[in-house]
Amino acid sequence: MTVALHQRLGGAEGIARLVDDVIAAHLANPLVKTRFEKIKDMAHTKQLVREFLTAGLGSPPTYTGKGMLGAHKSANVSEQEFLAAIDDIVGAMNKNGIDEDSKQDILAIL
Ligand code: HEM
Repeated sequence: MTVALHQRLGGAEGIARLVDDVIAAHLANPLVKTRFEKIKDMAHTKQLVREFLTAGLGSPPTYTGKGMLGAHKSANVSEQEFLAAIDDIVGAMNKNGIDEDSKQDILAIL
């Protein structure tokens, strides 16, 4: 089931495309862009987000980043920012033609 979802996303390449599109959407979204413009090593952050999603799907590699609390607690993310970021993620999933069931599964993992 989890392996099937990994395949439905287009495997590692599909996941990489999705993560690229999510970050691009955040950088274009006035509600959250300043948060993401500050990231110094975007390649590394994208790698961690790919790992996070892939590990959540039940496939290797293991996630090597911080816990979600450690990564975000000092940022004081508002509810509005959180919802804006989720909107970006849903938009990127739509752009990548991800089906409804898979979208729900991904949101549950996040
Ligand atoms: C579904 C919710 C979210 C998930 C699953 C998620 C996931 C992640 C992951 C895996 C990382 C890498 C952690 C690390 O650097 O070790 C990260 C970093 C980051 N996240 Fe999130 N995130 C979420 C929501 C948000 C929101 C709402 C914001 C701000 C609007 C945000 C802003 C950031 C920023 C700026 C970084 C980079 C931190 C740094 O490099 O110092 N995230 N996130």
